[in-house]
Amino acid sequence: MAETARKSGDESTPGLLRGLSGKVLVLTVLFVMLGEVLIFLPAIANFRIQWLKGRIAQAEIAALAAEAAPDQILSSDLRSEILKGAGVLVVSLSKDQKRQLILRSDGDQMIEASYDLRETMWLPQIADAGAAMLATGPRIIGVVDKPPNMSGDLIEIALDEEPLRQALRGYGLNILLISVGLSLLVGLVVFVALNRVLVRPMQRLTLNMVAFGRNPEDASRIIGPSARRDEIGIAERELHAMQGELLSMLQQKNRLAALGLAVSKVSHDLRNMLSSAQLISDRLSGVEDPTVQRFAPKLIASLDRAIGFLTQTLKFGRAQEPPPMREKVALKALVDEVIENAVLRTSSRIVLYNNVAQSIVADADRDQLNRVLTNLLRNAIQAIETAQAEDPGAREGAVTVTARRDGSVVAIEIRDNGPGIPERIRPRLFEPFQSAARSGGTGLGLAIAAELVRAHGGEISLATTGPEGTSFVVTLPDTVAELRTGRRGERRPADA
Ligand SMILES: Nc1ncnc2c1ncn2[C@@H]1O[C@H](COP(=O)(O)OP(=O)(O)OP(=O)(O)O)[C@@H](O)[C@H]1O
Ligand SMILES: [Mg+2]
Repeated sequence: MAETARKSGDESTPGLLRGLSGKVLVLTVLFVMLGEVLIFLPAIANFRIQWLKGRIAQAEIAALAAEAAPDQILSSDLRSEILKGAGVLVVSLSKDQKRQLILRSDGDQMIEASYDLRETMWLPQIADAGAAMLATGPRIIGVVDKPPNMSGDLIEIALDEEPLRQALRGYGLNILLISVGLSLLVGLVVFVALNRVLVRPMQRLTLNMVAFGRNPEDASRIIGPSARRDEIGIAERELHAMQGELLSMLQQKNRLAALGLAVSKVSHDLRNMLSSAQLISDRLSGVEDPTVQRFAPKLIASLDRAIGFLTQTLKFGRAQEPPPMREKVALKALVDEVIENAVLRTSSRIVLYNNVAQSIVADADRDQLNRVLTNLLRNAIQAIETAQAEDPGAREGAVTVTARRDGSVVAIEIRDNGPGIPERIRPRLFEPFQSAARSGGTGLGLAIAAELVRAHGGEISLATTGPEGTSFVVTLPDTVAELRTGRRGERRPADA
């Protein structure tokens, strides 16, 4: 127990990284970094292209300036000046497939890599930018593009890559710092927002579930639902309802358990009391008085039944009925017995009729059938008596028991001319504790009767009820004789 409590304690507070909060943090960081890469790479690629295009434009202007010189002849010094101003080493302009002009500074230049700016594929551009940034040592590169001022079809330049590298590094560092700062800010805001909107409410739900699970009988641990209209709000409200239901179920179970204990105690001591009563009544049967002789055996039989019943209840720990011990029961005699017992307690203004035919035999547990009929008869008598007590002018009461056999089923009807069953208790008439309408009733009688009849494979039903009276019908099927298993088409020996 302590072990499981500790374990669930660990589970309710997962480590920072295993919890929702940590997961949200890790995910935010990952996505921010991804966003970072997606911003940074295209930015430097674009910067490099723009930078080179700037050089191309300057080189073109330089070429045009050289073209404007008289006879297109420039001194070596001036040429170097112009090229230096444009930041390139060589410029060549072509028109109509022919090279028109070449400006070249002094000295040999070996072009190590050349790029065509007319190609606009992103991935190679990103790769080229990366290479330019990371390369070590001076490099001379060639660049080809369409002249921006339309002075020809094609312009080719050669230049030292070092200035480009410096500019790229400076720009890259700048954009890295800015985007890291921005991403961190956005990430932080996203993290805080997710935490507030999702993680915290989820943690509240979880902690509440764990706390409630530890002690579901504490009503103060039921979650207070918020007014949220999203899924979390729904979950809170559903959890609230579920916990309430569970609590009331537990309370009912506790009540029933307490009741069970009380019943056991009552049964126990009542059995002892009845046992002494039994001893005394045993002595009574020795008395010669004819009235005593008539009633003593009934008293003894009743006490025997009561003691047996209490013993059963104690043995099973609850009032579960033992399976019926079925036998052939002469119904008329049984009804006589039931009526005779009931008569003792019945006012003189009620007549009880036994209209059961002599020949009817039921296949049932004698004691249990006795209890079923006694309960039904007592209900009828009590109903009539209550009505008569409220209105002394009420008609004479009558309760009639009839029975008939249809094939293998015996149907017994108990009909009274009482006031009928109140409408509001009819739907749950056969449920324990649900239907007691009269004061002093527990609402168990019909539930017990129904259970006993069901154990016989039969049924008890309210046939009619109203101001003219009430009638209950009990149907009891005979036990089915066990069928012999034989092959289809096989003849039974008797048929042969
Ligand atoms: N024949 C009847 N006529 C009118 N009302 C009846 C009749 N039978 C049962 N009832 C009503 O149904 C209720 C339930 O009957 P049930 O036998 O289950 O419990 P109870 O008689 O109240 O208590 P218990 O039998 O456990 O002492 C009764 O309280 C009574 O109001
Ligand atoms: Mg009753």
